[in-house]
Amino acid sequence: MRIGIFCVTLICWNSLFAVIGGFKFHRTQHTERISGSAGDVLDDDPVGRLKVFVYELPSKYNKKFLQKDPRCLTHMFAAEIYMHRFLLTSPVRTLNPEEADWFYTPVYTTCELTPNGLPLPFKSPRMMRSAIKLISSNWPYWNRTEGADHFFIVPHDFAACFHYLEEKAIERGILPLLMRATLVQTFGQRNHVCLKDGSIIIPPYAPPQKMQAHLIPPTTPRSIFVYFRGLFYDVGNDPEGGYYARGARASVWENFKDNPLFDISTEHPTTYYEDMQRAIFCLCPLGWAPWSPRLVEAVVFGCIPVIIADDIVLPFGDAIPWEEIGVFVAETDVPELDTILTSIPIDEILRKQRLLANPSMKQAMLFPQPAQPRDAFHQILNGLARKLPHDVSVFLRPGEKKTLNWTAGPTADLKPW
Ligand SMILES: *[C@@H]1O[C@H](CO)[C@@H](O)[C@H](O)[C@H]1NC(C)=O
Ligand SMILES: *[C@@H]1O[C@H](CO)[C@@H](O)[C@H](O)[C@H]1NC(C)=O
Repeated sequence: MRIGIFCVTLICWNSLFAVIGGFKFHRTQHTERISGSAGDVLDDDPVGRLKVFVYELPSKYNKKFLQKDPRCLTHMFAAEIYMHRFLLTSPVRTLNPEEADWFYTPVYTTCELTPNGLPLPFKSPRMMRSAIKLISSNWPYWNRTEGADHFFIVPHDFAACFHYLEEKAIERGILPLLMRATLVQTFGQRNHVCLKDGSIIIPPYAPPQKMQAHLIPPTTPRSIFVYFRGLFYDVGNDPEGGYYARGARASVWENFKDNPLFDISTEHPTTYYEDMQRAIFCLCPLGWAPWSPRLVEAVVFGCIPVIIADDIVLPFGDAIPWEEIGVFVAETDVPELDTILTSIPIDEILRKQRLLANPSMKQAMLFPQPAQPRDAFHQILNGLARKLPHDVSVFLRPGEKKTLNWTAGPTADLKPW
């Protein structure tokens, strides 16, 4: 009876599995149509709606880094590399800058890594400044708008603030030269100096093939109630405790380490991806930044993301109905997490799971190679297309005073690169 009612509102799939963009999702589950315009937006095809001109830069701004350290092809900031590659062969690319709606400058600002594989963003402002200087002297387009029709991929923790510590990032602010450009970034938090109006928030990069290799049958029971693997304290960088994750992760640990409903630990098992597919709720608390790849993993593995990061701005928020898929818990409410999650009616849990089973939702979180319709690359283009046409006011009239300040910012950033 119940199934009958469901089928009125659900798309009922009979096929055992379908291949979606090279990503196989077993489909014995029902999939719920995404309500309202959000679903339509997710399915938009950007081709024909915008033209992008890709500046050609000396390889020291991009490819040289890769030759030196291929690890940046797999870390969570790799979107800057794959977006560049994607655009070079995309049908939205134009070789004629005169007809371009958008200009893209391929600078890999997160590809200089420590021995541990973490990006060192200290030279990024100089690199970026140098690249902008180069495009503005060699082509006339930057000066026309001072970058208002240019976009940049800045996937680092605090985006174009170029620092991994929030305090320092806030102090620096967004690189002054990028104040008129559109920033495509993973960092999203409301009322934060590192996020300005009009930015496009994207998911971090999580390796699609690797995730696919760990898929288990969707009929596997979800026997874990709450799952989390990761740090609760970051003793190395926050010896006093309390600053890391604004104390939210520490609170998860202290309150629930002995609670049988909570499968939480700092140990990262080899079955991590499988475990997420066996869990109902996956905790996605803030760390140093509000976002982490867990969000992508939760969606791909159909585990309801429990988002603990006040004021977070989520990826492609105009296309993905995060409020419907996920559970939002205020950082101060962490001690009540068990009550909050056990009070969610079963029907609501099932509905969220059906929404998560929607292949469009998963596809939008991924940067597959080769690209596929509706994936994260296409959602970025959709975001750029929705910002068109540019307001005429962004084009400087002859003699109009420029607004960007080339000598603003920390002195060390002004050194040539
Ligand atoms: C753009 O403006 C800068 C000064 O703001 C100037 O040095 C540069 O030559 C201009 N670029 C072009 C292509 O005219
Ligand atoms: C540009 O910024 C520098 C450093 O903050 C400042 O000294 C200078 O006056 C600014 N120039 C303009 C034109 O606002």
